[in-house]
Amino acid sequence: MMRVAVFASGNGSNFQAIVNAVKEGRLDVSVELLVCDKPKAYVVERAQAAGVPVLAFRPKEYASREEYERMILAELQARGIELIVLAGYMRIITSVLVEPYYGRMINIHPSLLPSFPGVDAIGQALAHGVKVTGVTVHFVDGGMDSGPIIAQQALDIQVDDSKDTLATRIQEVEHELYVKVIGMISAGRIKLEPDGLRVTVK
Ligand code: GAR
Repeated sequence: MMRVAVFASGNGSNFQAIVNAVKEGRLDVSVELLVCDKPKAYVVERAQAAGVPVLAFRPKEYASREEYERMILAELQARGIELIVLAGYMRIITSVLVEPYYGRMINIHPSLLPSFPGVDAIGQALAHGVKVTGVTVHFVDGGMDSGPIIAQQALDIQVDDSKDTLATRIQEVEHELYVKVIGMISAGRIKLEPDGLRVTVK
């Protein structure tokens, strides 16, 4: 079974969706670790309740991103982690993690990338007045919400949508799409081609 580490910074609803899918037999992976850069985030409580080990750290206690990522990498290697799943982990990833995990690290983002990367993608889409938005899952390449796209799902914006109503519908799509993509990766159905750019789906 594929050994997975989830990285998250906040609420952790995507983490929960993954853990629930595993528990209910809808997803055949093993969630071995939660990595969290905010020790007080709600996702830490979710992990504890689910019996998933937690690696929580405070970035400020390290001299650089590279330094805490080296600490994380050692932990991932010690646990034999094969896939990194970023689920609301609001930090840039450096080459310390990108290089060893290129093609084995994915992210989910609440817009149709390359539109609206970064923070508050849902607010950005509303402010821009787009009529269609959605969710993107992609391999991580070290840019901000960039890298080869694996899957996207579109969603209409309604005239009366607020940030809350739109966020609720987007999160429902996220939870379903992320579980589906992780399942396809663990089944060997999604591959990043050797050129490091094209994604093929079987
Ligand atoms: C999710 O909507 C995810 O797509 C987004 O953070 C939220 C985390 O929610 N990620 C990004 O914006 C990445 N740039 P959660 O903690 O409830 O899973």
